[in-house]
Amino acid sequence: AEPPAVAAVPQSGADGLVLLRRVGVVDPGSLDDYRAHGGYAALRRAFALGPAGVIREVTEAGLVGRGGAAFPTGRKWSATAQQPDHPHYLVCNADESEPGTFKDRVLLEGDPYALIEAMTVAGYATGAHRGYLYLRGEYPRALHRLRTAIDQARARGFLGEDVMGQGFAFDIEIRRGAGAYICGEETAIFNSIEGRRGEPRSKPPFPVEKGLFGKPTAVNNVETLVNVLPILIEGAQAYARTGTDTSTGTKLFCVSGTVARPGVYELPFGATLRELLELAGPPETLRAVLLGGAAGGFVRPDELDVPLTFEGTRAAGTTLGSGVVLVLDDGVELPRVLLRIAEFFRDESCGQCVPCRVGTVRQEEALHRLKDRTGTAAAGDIALLREVGQAMRDASICGLGQTAWNAVESAIDRLGAFK
Ligand code: NAI
Ligand code: SF4
Repeated sequence: AEPPAVAAVPQSGADGLVLLRRVGVVDPGSLDDYRAHGGYAALRRAFALGPAGVIREVTEAGLVGRGGAAFPTGRKWSATAQQPDHPHYLVCNADESEPGTFKDRVLLEGDPYALIEAMTVAGYATGAHRGYLYLRGEYPRALHRLRTAIDQARARGFLGEDVMGQGFAFDIEIRRGAGAYICGEETAIFNSIEGRRGEPRSKPPFPVEKGLFGKPTAVNNVETLVNVLPILIEGAQAYARTGTDTSTGTKLFCVSGTVARPGVYELPFGATLRELLELAGPPETLRAVLLGGAAGGFVRPDELDVPLTFEGTRAAGTTLGSGVVLVLDDGVELPRVLLRIAEFFRDESCGQCVPCRVGTVRQEEALHRLKDRTGTAAAGDIALLREVGQAMRDASICGLGQTAWNAVESAIDRLGAFK
């Protein structure tokens, strides 16, 4: 039996939806319904273009990764496809665990065939015949639907030895995470799939060269992959007309906190934070918005006209990350929020490297001391936080340690926390 439904997620309305257009409309358990709603037109077009043609379209569309790091997808696919070593692998990172992020879940549960089709396109483009779908362990409903979709696609010739009769072999295996945040880091995923301890590896070498089982691997986030379908159907130029020159297309935003209508919203890149908050119903007295999640930064009420683009948020001293928009009203106790973020990083550090293992503990301790003395400046602890934060940023192996101090730093410098 299918696990119980999650709470309904409001969307931005019927108009202008690209990635969410089938969610809530299509029957997620029916391949026929998916096809009746335009499914598998993109894969057909991919076969007509050939692998190099697909990569050209994705590159010209300007697609960049939606997991948080915004790396150009065409460059990643091209680098993987060109590797002389074989086999090549495709890994879909569906271990969505950034605090405040729940966008991939909506796609996985609401339009599972779209991801299966997009993974097949990605496998075709990069020369991979096997794709691994690494799914967050706490998403049982998505697991159920993806399993059904993969079984149906295989039974109907959309996966397997001869996909759509085009002589291309491709199949997908689901692997589930077991609750560790760090296993969403791309190289920790490799270790997890290979049966090793879920710890990040040093980069370089990048996965495009040495990834899963030491072989060339393209790793893409769920939302990134699903974008490939409209790119192939509409064409790169039409796709790139939405958004800005350097942030093309639409983006899913996960709005949570003190808003009237929390949920996943799809907007063209370039819409402002103010516009997004108007849709979600802002609080009467806004204190700040945490953009980009625990590794991101705070935006003040006087900065709401920041454009929601990778370049716009960077210029404003924060990041779009994977689309977290956590809204805090005036009643929030900022020190408690910061402490909660610090606890999260301390808890989820894999402990492999010293700056992160020790730094996240020291950060939490200092925040505890500061919280208990709120109202009086504690210059010594703030200086300690800066020193520890810089050491983590400079000397940690992976993104967890490198960004574990971002939100705290932002709160101190931009919101005047602990003054
Ligand atoms: P990164 O910047 O190291 O890499 C991004 C991607 O580009 C990776 O796939 C990497 O292999 C590839 N890449 C980078 N340079 C390359 C090169 N020279 N050649 C070939 N490939 C190259 O970032 P990372 O550590 O993979 O991701 C960090 C981001 O993940 C953060 O921005 C954070 O917001 C986000 N994140 C998202 C989560 C979620 O649940 N969606 C959870 C935790 C973090
Ligand atoms: Fe592990 Fe932290 Fe080092 Fe990343 S930075 S490898 S999470 S100890």
